[in-house]
Amino acid sequence: MKSIVILISGRGSNMEVLLDAVLPGRIAAVISNRPGSPGLALAASRGVATSVVDHKAYPDRAAFDAALAEEIERHGPDLVVLAGFMRVLGDDFVRRFEGRMMNIHPSLLPAFPGLDTHGRALSAGVKLHGCTVHFVTPTLDNGPIIIQAGVPVFPSDDTPRLAARVLEQEHRIYPQAVRWFLEGRLSLTAAGTVRLEGDREEGASLCVPALDPAP
Ligand code: GRF
Repeated sequence: MKSIVILISGRGSNMEVLLDAVLPGRIAAVISNRPGSPGLALAASRGVATSVVDHKAYPDRAAFDAALAEEIERHGPDLVVLAGFMRVLGDDFVRRFEGRMMNIHPSLLPAFPGLDTHGRALSAGVKLHGCTVHFVTPTLDNGPIIIQAGVPVFPSDDTPRLAARVLEQEHRIYPQAVRWFLEGRLSLTAAGTVRLEGDREEGASLCVPALDPAP
């Protein structure tokens, strides 16, 4: 059976939906770079092995990355899942796990890479916002896109309301992407694009504000 390792830094709500999901694979471990991450206790309470690789304990990024890679490899996972993991990973680390490491980002990439995505979406006045699951490449929040979900942005929105609307969608698309990978349907091609076997090419459009009914 295939297995995954999940990396977190904080709350761990995406991790939790993965723990709750019916996946064709085993969650071998949850690793955090922060000793106090609430997600660690949550994972432990579900009987999942947890560990900490504290970035503060290493002199530089390369040393931290090496320790983290070693801790991940101990479990020999097929897939590494970044779920709110808030450290930038070096090129060597990323290449080592290329095509078998994914991340979730709270925007419709390539819009709003980096931090404060919801505040920036509100300031920009976009009508559609959302989230993206992508394979991880050396450039931050820039890897080949696996799945995206869009949500409307309303005039009455503030950052917490918008963040909650996006998070609900994160919790739908991340288990889907992980399931596709574990089923062997998802791969990264040599050209750096994503291939999904059995892609159904379906989907309805979302217009915001809503279109007036046809006259
Ligand atoms: C999520 O919004 C995720 O997209 C971003 O960090 C947040 C983590 O939330 N990368 P959680 O720890 O999964 O609850």
